[in-house]
Amino acid sequence: MASPLLFLLFLSTSFLPLCTSLNREGQALLSFKQSISQDPENCLSNWNASDSDPCSWNGLTCKDNSVISISLPKKRLVGFIPSSIGALPSLRHINLRNNLLFGQLPAGLFTPLGLQSLVLYGNSFTGSIPVELGNLSYLQILDLSYNSFNGSLPKSILSCKRIKTLVLAHNNFSSSLPNGLGTALVELEKLDLSYNAFTGPIPSDIGNLSSLQGTADFSHNHLSGSIPPSLGNLPEKVYIDLTYNNLTGPIPQNGALENRGPTAFIGNPGLCGPPLKNPCSAEAPSSNPFLPSNYSPSSSFPNKNGTRGNKGLSRVAVVAIIVSDIVGIGLVALVFFYCYWKATSNRNKEKTDGGNGNCPCFRRKDESGSLSENGEQYELVALDRNVKYSLDELLKASAFVLGKSGIGIMYKVILECGPTLAVRRLGEGGLQRFKEFQAEVEAIGKVRHANIVTLRAYYWSYDEKLLVYDYIPNGSLSSAIHGKPGAVSFTPLPWDTRVKFMKGIATGLHFLHEFSPKKYVHGDLRPNNVLLGPNFEPYISDFGLARLATIAGNISPYLPSDRTGTDNKSQSDASVSPLITTKGNLYQAPEALKTLKPSQKWDVYSYGVILLELITGRAPVVLLDNLQMDLVKWVELCIEEKKPLLDVLDPGLVREIDREDEIILVLKIALSCVQVSPEKRPNMRSVVDTLDRVGES
Ligand SMILES: *[C@@H]1O[C@H](CO)[C@@H](O)[C@H](O)[C@H]1NC(C)=O
Ligand SMILES: *[C@@H]1O[C@H](CO)[C@@H](O)[C@H](O)[C@H]1NC(C)=O
Ligand SMILES: *[C@@H]1O[C@H](CO)[C@@H](O)[C@H](O)[C@H]1NC(C)=O
Ligand SMILES: *[C@@H]1O[C@H](CO)[C@@H](O)[C@H](O)[C@H]1NC(C)=O
Ligand SMILES: *[C@@H]1O[C@H](CO)[C@@H](O)[C@H](O)[C@H]1NC(C)=O
Ligand SMILES: *[C@@H]1O[C@H](CO)[C@@H](O)[C@H](O)[C@H]1NC(C)=O
Ligand SMILES: *[C@@H]1O[C@H](CO)[C@@H](O)[C@H](O)[C@H]1NC(C)=O
Repeated sequence: MASPLLFLLFLSTSFLPLCTSLNREGQALLSFKQSISQDPENCLSNWNASDSDPCSWNGLTCKDNSVISISLPKKRLVGFIPSSIGALPSLRHINLRNNLLFGQLPAGLFTPLGLQSLVLYGNSFTGSIPVELGNLSYLQILDLSYNSFNGSLPKSILSCKRIKTLVLAHNNFSSSLPNGLGTALVELEKLDLSYNAFTGPIPSDIGNLSSLQGTADFSHNHLSGSIPPSLGNLPEKVYIDLTYNNLTGPIPQNGALENRGPTAFIGNPGLCGPPLKNPCSAEAPSSNPFLPSNYSPSSSFPNKNGTRGNKGLSRVAVVAIIVSDIVGIGLVALVFFYCYWKATSNRNKEKTDGGNGNCPCFRRKDESGSLSENGEQYELVALDRNVKYSLDELLKASAFVLGKSGIGIMYKVILECGPTLAVRRLGEGGLQRFKEFQAEVEAIGKVRHANIVTLRAYYWSYDEKLLVYDYIPNGSLSSAIHGKPGAVSFTPLPWDTRVKFMKGIATGLHFLHEFSPKKYVHGDLRPNNVLLGPNFEPYISDFGLARLATIAGNISPYLPSDRTGTDNKSQSDASVSPLITTKGNLYQAPEALKTLKPSQKWDVYSYGVILLELITGRAPVVLLDNLQMDLVKWVELCIEEKKPLLDVLDPGLVREIDREDEIILVLKIALSCVQVSPEKRPNMRSVVDTLDRVGES
């Protein structure tokens, strides 16, 4: 009796698989296929019941014969997700983005406990997120954006400790955010809650999200209460977008919240204080985080003791300085915000109506109230096709003050994905001279050369004139020769690097003089204006700037620069040495003081001084026994007195004295360039030709 039974058992285990074919996971997936009513691209066509497992089916990945990933993005699938999807115990990744799926998420979706990513954005899902979400302790990516989910974000999400990406934007989520979000989701890198209906306060521990990157986006919700100061503890590079909520009170000015423009806060009528224009009510001055709690204006002058009053004053000064920077940065962002659309819209059309067309985006002004009051034309004009900054990118970019000089303030603007830019803010005024400015700036924009900083775009309004350049990362020639002010260590440049600088600058200048559309004169060539690229290739910057600044109503250059930036890399004027600024421009040809019409020979003179600086390693003013002598005179004196070359040479070059022939050749070029009589100076073409003989062997 026993043996036939055993035989039957054997039969059933060995033959059944052959008869019923498809395994359990395959069955679960077939029921998913059945819930899809439309599959216009037939991507589920090979999901065939007669296969033994689903591992060969489109969109699936298996490991050890178990499905670990479903990936069917952008397939125009119409349907819903059945609960049976939970019968895939090894599932780690689900990507069904950009389909036309609808209905609620079944709790079964959260039974594969090893799920690491759930990407469902761009569908039409509704309903709330099941609390079972919290069972997914390995979840790293949750992107449910662009659906119609509602209800609250379940508190159980605090159990998803490994979550790195939490994107819920453009849904209908409501209720308040779970408290403890900041403490629980320590690994969170991307947080986007924008365009929902979240209410209540921003969790006070959100500042503990120390791994966040990019934009922490809370915008377009109904969040209320005050901004928790701990929000400033977020990493400095994080842009915190709080726009269009119902937040109230002063804006804390610490950490990541410091140096932010008003753009991050607009659309919250109850917010006050810098960087916004509406002051906080006078009843609560102590709530301003800048001021000591016992500060009042009358106590800000030195009292008997002197100490407390001084402290008050300096705090006030700090406020003033920071506020002015914030306003600057904010304006940059605002301008981009307003005018982005212009940059991408039809430029030709714009040209024909002379840039005076009404900018539709300008209407946004009325919504926010805190933006510019001057209603004139707004446009960001791209000067080449590479300007592809999107509104969001520009709006959310971090801006740092690089430096201030007589000609506006320079900002480094870091786009989230895109180039880093250098943006110069010229001043106010000169509205009637728009055409002139436009002609000038567009001609300058046409100048393209490997040794010249490219002007990419500009912007014009009554309040603001902006010039958008490529950002050149490696500081100026000045700091390469003399070291950065305050820097601890400094390596003198080898001769070959100096020759590279000399040749690059000469080629750029030659191009400017002979091949640029207007045969330009730079007029203000200085080591501060020569920037160094990633491989220390020199870029001439700021040509034409003086003229643009004059049109824009800025007054002349060479005011002492005033470094307040948080970024040490300089972009031109950022670090003018005090010697130069106090004693006028020593790179300027002597005749420039008398003649009004700029000549190319001015640039040749300036170039000669730069060569001398590169050879001697000395500043353009030499101190001799308390006597100031300019570098040109000093070198001429040394030659008159027949001093040995070693006395003139940069000590950093002494080891390379075997290049004496080349050094002397360059010295000769330099001396011919700095002749007093402009006619005796060579033109840049012959300088370039002569330099060609200086090898880099
Ligand atoms: C499934 O596969 C079998 C054999 O491999 C084939 O005959 C059948 O046509 C397939 N069915 C579909 C719907 O493709
Ligand atoms: C999943 O979550 C629910 C609700 O939070 C809970 O009742 C259930 O026990 C959890 N299941 C597992 C396997 O953890
Ligand atoms: C959000 O909910 C409101 C009211 O329940 C509804 O009118 C609106 O269409 C919903 N929005 C989305 C994107 O689902
Ligand atoms: C979510 O939306 C559905 C309709 O799609 C509605 O019946 C339900 O009440 C909403 N839930 C919440 C919490 O708003
Ligand atoms: C959160 O950050 C605050 C400081 O911002 C710190 O005091 C606190 O200990 C942090 N909490 C945790 C759990 O790390
Ligand atoms: C904003 O918050 C206040 C209370 O702080 C409340 O009275 C008001 O209704 C809220 N407004 C919106 C639009 O949610
Ligand atoms: C003066 O300063 C000292 C210490 O700097 C402090 O202890 C004292 O309270 C101060 N007095 C007044 C009147 O501010």
